[in-house]
Amino acid sequence: MNGTNTSAAAGKHPLFVVSNREPYLHSRRQDGTITCAPTTGGVAVALDALMRERGGTWIAHGAGDADREVVDASDRVRVPPDAPTYTLRRIWLSPEEERRYYGGFSNEGLWPVCHIAHVRPVFRSEDWAEYRAVNARFAEAIDGELTDPAAPVFIQDYHLALVAGELRRRRPNVRTALFWHIPWPHPDRLRICPWRREIMTGLLANDLLAFQLERDRRNFLLGVRDELPAQVDRGIVRMHGRETHVVSAPIGIDFDRIVEVASDPALINETERLRRELRINDPAIDVIGVGVDRLDYTKGIPERLEAVDRLLTNRPELRGRLVFVQVGVPSRSKLESYASIESEIDQKVADINTRHGNGPEDGPIRYRKAALKIRRLVALYRMADFCVVSSLHDGMNLVAKEFIAARDDEDGVLVLSEMTGAAHELGEALIINPYDIDGFSRAIDRAIEMPVEERRARMRALRRVVAGHDVFLWASDILQGLENLTAALRPVRGAAVKHSFTDPLARPSGDARR
Ligand code: F6P
Repeated sequence: MNGTNTSAAAGKHPLFVVSNREPYLHSRRQDGTITCAPTTGGVAVALDALMRERGGTWIAHGAGDADREVVDASDRVRVPPDAPTYTLRRIWLSPEEERRYYGGFSNEGLWPVCHIAHVRPVFRSEDWAEYRAVNARFAEAIDGELTDPAAPVFIQDYHLALVAGELRRRRPNVRTALFWHIPWPHPDRLRICPWRREIMTGLLANDLLAFQLERDRRNFLLGVRDELPAQVDRGIVRMHGRETHVVSAPIGIDFDRIVEVASDPALINETERLRRELRINDPAIDVIGVGVDRLDYTKGIPERLEAVDRLLTNRPELRGRLVFVQVGVPSRSKLESYASIESEIDQKVADINTRHGNGPEDGPIRYRKAALKIRRLVALYRMADFCVVSSLHDGMNLVAKEFIAARDDEDGVLVLSEMTGAAHELGEALIINPYDIDGFSRAIDRAIEMPVEERRARMRALRRVVAGHDVFLWASDILQGLENLTAALRPVRGAAVKHSFTDPLARPSGDARR
């Protein structure tokens, strides 16, 4: 454990985390037994690390087919299953609620409006009504669980923009912070959303509102100035007699946990199994690339396949030598936009494998459509010569940080899209524009040919950045910020709040990009 863990774990009151996605999902196997597996996705992974350290209650949608069978009469279950440290309180949603609140308003409306990825946002009033109703249900559940009125409530992401407002109606003095994990759009784009004022007003019911980047924070404040009867004084918004501090605080990963997995001598067995399964134990294969993503149209997977395709076309001598392993975790598959990106990727993989190899499934792209457990993921990262993160737009992208954490051998090259939040911190990666296929393929070529001293120097620098700002520091920045704000009730204007996130009270505003 590093020093920062301690500060996140040391809160006086139990912590309440609230998110749509639950950290653990119970499901029934074919043989009738119940299994419990961690869920994938940035929010669940990052916050689970924090809750393991700090304890408390996590309130989330129970989405597993055996979730109801393992909870107690109050819909609670202790997790993680191997060594329980916190309580998971599950909320049940009907198929209709899930379809409209999660699939509709959150993922066909807010997700595309916040990401510049050319999928048209769809806003339906029926989805909006369900979004409001489900947010109110989350607030009601928090109210029921909050035995300690001073306990901080830490709300996650775009699914739950209205929770703080609903909760505050029941408990005017509740202390809440919300972290918006995805980009916040410029007001010109946000204007597409018919209920943008309600969303922004809902977010301003929090005491502290945090975004990944300074750019997101600035966009939000511009929107507030344009659209709401609010006063904006640097990062403090005053409206209806309340104050909200708006900050940027880029999220990190559980660096030490990944290092621990990476340095386990038994990982070698996992690596060998993986090499056999992926058929990369042929000695002729001497260049391995990896990509790990949810199957989402924001991740730039077709563009990355095109870049590999172009490289193999320009350098045919790499055929038979280069393998690119793409792990794609199926996601939101009920939505048409997701089903169509999935089939586009299937076709591209088959086409590239046929043209540069021996058939649709026997070529340079080894495509696995399933989530990997942490050990397997770390083994994969460590066998790669390069890792590609090519998002068209991304709040942060934790795969980039995980790859770096896994490389305590100080080798491997990160090829990283300039459209990710991570690119603002990870300047020693090879930065690409995923729309420029030529430039992208040249960057992969450069990664392959990079001299070992340069690889090491870059990886060392990247590791310093990722280790120096892990998920525990991120969480303690936000929770300590919340603590300071509410301890002083309303801070004296101009007084610096003691935390390390970008707070306009503490520093002049400016882009966090290096
Ligand atoms: O990071 C953005 C995010 O939407 C999280 O809120 C979510 O947990 C993750 O991506 C995975 O998406 P989903 O929960 O829809 O599977």
